[in-house]
Amino acid sequence: MSHYPSARFSVAPMLDWTDRHCRYFHRLMSRHAQLYTEMVTTGAIIHGKGDYLAYNEEEHPLVLQLGGNDPEALAHCAVLAEQRGYDEINLNVGCPSDRVQNGLFGACLMAEPQKVAEGVAAMKAAVSIPVTVKTRIGIDEQDSYEFLCTLVDSVAEAGIDALIVHARKAWLQGLSPKENREIPTLDYDRVYQLKRDYAGLTIAVNGGIKTLEEAGAHLQHLDGVMLGREAYQNPYLLARVDAELFGDEREVPSRHQVIRNLLPYIERELTQGTYLGNITRHTLGIFQGMPGARAWRRHLSENAHKRGAGPEVVEAAMARVPEESVVYS
Ligand SMILES: Cc1cc2nc3c(=O)[nH]c(=O)nc-3n(C[C@H](O)[C@H](O)[C@H](O)COP(=O)(O)O)c2cc1C
Repeated sequence: MSHYPSARFSVAPMLDWTDRHCRYFHRLMSRHAQLYTEMVTTGAIIHGKGDYLAYNEEEHPLVLQLGGNDPEALAHCAVLAEQRGYDEINLNVGCPSDRVQNGLFGACLMAEPQKVAEGVAAMKAAVSIPVTVKTRIGIDEQDSYEFLCTLVDSVAEAGIDALIVHARKAWLQGLSPKENREIPTLDYDRVYQLKRDYAGLTIAVNGGIKTLEEAGAHLQHLDGVMLGREAYQNPYLLARVDAELFGDEREVPSRHQVIRNLLPYIERELTQGTYLGNITRHTLGIFQGMPGARAWRRHLSENAHKRGAGPEVVEAAMARVPEESVVYS
């Protein structure tokens, strides 16, 4: 359907969750899923002290999600990202948090389609990797289809390579970011309508998708699906993505094998000063639904943060979970 195969399935950008350790772990289960960084602001990249663009080579295909509204700063950051080897840049036009609103970016940019278009155009002129936008279907009382189309017209004209739509609106006042991911109603039909009206535009849907079966159903209408919370909380669903959504039938590692494959990374990171818990926190859900899942979580939660904790903690936690005989069960 699309000339943009990796966008068929992606793991959503999630602040504090999809850091480089999380992405490395996710990549052990799917070669094809597109992975996103957390949102990184242009201010952090340009003025921050840390290296906000660090990632592991294994993470490709990898998208940097930028937060910002100044075309020059966005273009500058896009160039830095391209030089560092990122595969794609995504602009956040969907985050409703107060902090982001104070910076006048994220979801409130939906009301300023011209500003978004200028940012996209500046990035497109500066880099040759794809530039995409992630947005919502509306904000506050501005939730008509026409309102959404005004934004889509602007970014399409600016040359956007794909649009990811979180299929609910955001209330900019009165709801926390968490509530804004739960309370406004999901409206997938509106995203399907968008694809019918902008057939030439690559469009992916996000929001509330919990299974690959649901993902497959959306792919009947759209070019891509993006999963956030379910992919994070139940990460082993990623193990079926390559076969079911990309036709790649290569053998899939078992849950235990995924964790074993993570151990060399853990060892490498620990020698560089990373705390074990910063890596293992992303793995807590891998045995979800299996006997021993609780014991796994508990052992890690109680021990991974202790001084000197190393791979032996992970091995001990894994020993509490019976090895599966059938992968996927
Ligand atoms: C902890 C957390 C952090 C998030 N951070 C971001 C972010 O940095 N950028 C962004 O565009 N969306 C962010 N989101 C929203 C997700 O990308 C996604 O749009 C939302 O969770 C809906 O998808 P889901 O129902 O599959 O989780 C975040 C969501 C969560 C749960």
